[in-house]
Amino acid sequence: MTGPDPASPGTEETLEPQVTAAESADAPSDGQHSDDRREIVAPRSGTEPAAETTADPSPEPTAADDAAAERPSVLSVRDLHVSFRSRYGRGRALAVDGVDLDIAPGEIVALVGESGCGKSTLARALTGLVKPTSGQVLHDGAPVSYTSRALKAYRRGVQLVLQDPTGALNPRRTVYEAVAEGLRIHGKSALGAFPDEKSKVADALSRAGLRPPERFVNLRPHQLSGGQRQRVVIAGALVLDPEVLVADEPVASLDASVRGEILRLLLDLRTTAGLSALVVTHDLGLAWNIADRVAVMYLGRVVETGTVEEVLTDPQHPYTKALLSVVAESGTEAVILSGETPDSAAIPSGCRFHPRCPLLASGEAERLGIAHRCLTEDPAPLPAGGRHAACHAAA
Ligand SMILES: Nc1ncnc2c1ncn2[C@@H]1O[C@H](COP(=O)(O)OP(=O)(O)O)[C@@H](O)[C@H]1O
Ligand code: SF4
Ligand SMILES: [Mg+2]
Repeated sequence: MTGPDPASPGTEETLEPQVTAAESADAPSDGQHSDDRREIVAPRSGTEPAAETTADPSPEPTAADDAAAERPSVLSVRDLHVSFRSRYGRGRALAVDGVDLDIAPGEIVALVGESGCGKSTLARALTGLVKPTSGQVLHDGAPVSYTSRALKAYRRGVQLVLQDPTGALNPRRTVYEAVAEGLRIHGKSALGAFPDEKSKVADALSRAGLRPPERFVNLRPHQLSGGQRQRVVIAGALVLDPEVLVADEPVASLDASVRGEILRLLLDLRTTAGLSALVVTHDLGLAWNIADRVAVMYLGRVVETGTVEEVLTDPQHPYTKALLSVVAESGTEAVILSGETPDSAAIPSGCRFHPRCPLLASGEAERLGIAHRCLTEDPAPLPAGGRHAACHAAA
């Protein structure tokens, strides 16, 4: 199954792909993951459940937050940079431009931001498919080694699930062959306690919700629904007993009716298998329903981080506020961002968001006495944990 991401960086260090693919989309309506998860606003496109932003005005750290803060990260990046020769022939595209991020065991982190901000490049760097230009990817605190043997072992534990299950599955191969592929790459050790390949594949299909597995093993992708195809892709990842799933827009290509089911599956896997996940999405409704923490990315940088409640009910960065404002029922006037289209080969000086910042355009930044800094001073990259916004107004 899978294969190379079509957006695979061809110009730089692209490492051989050997991954599974999948995608994601809609929000479970019963808010199963967090204690008293609120419903969030549907995007104006209208496929998500509605949300009201009944922000808790006193986001005191809870015992769970403290415990999460103490857990060592299963996957981290530190000062990560990934650049490419620009597709448009001028300069370099700084796709990831100084990112720190932690994913704790059993934690689901949503990476949100508009198209082109570097989400997929960061996901690929996390899964060892692209080598950082500088900075580090750390697995259980140890830097990832890029020798082919070390990468093979690393990728077994950190599985990539892409957006389009149809593209990820070979139309001529059966479900069984698709799921067994990873096992064959990794050899007998990947069977764990299972006596043979057949029982391991059946277990993975079952965990991905394709039950009974015998009903599916001999089918080919065209005989499955979109949701079932994505479950096959997820089974192909699960069969290797990964610690982390990196899911790049895992439901974006699915019908709204099955998105919730696939998201629920990811949440269940966190509970039953202790899986951690980085879920890449441009959809804040999805982030609300699935994530513990959110990182908002703009032009290669994380510009706001915090728990999902903190970031989505009390956004601090003008970019996050603009993203949220266009979500239906957000209760605020939609902020339409104007100014230059973001281009990672031409990152503005000063604050990279300044050409589009409503605070600067409205004169509010001037009133706050930060306008000059907005134009000249790049807000420092954010640390991995805690609650932060890379904005002079939030400092
Ligand atoms: N292989 C590549 N060669 C040149 N530029 C690339 C390559 N891959 C990504 N980019 C550029 O890096 C930036 C981030 O891309 P990407 O990570 O795909 O963003 P996202 O997933 O958020 O849409 C974009 O400007 C994109 O054009
Ligand atoms: S630093 Fe200035 S330009 Fe950047 S987001 Fe904040 S207010 Fe806007
Ligand atoms: Mg992408």
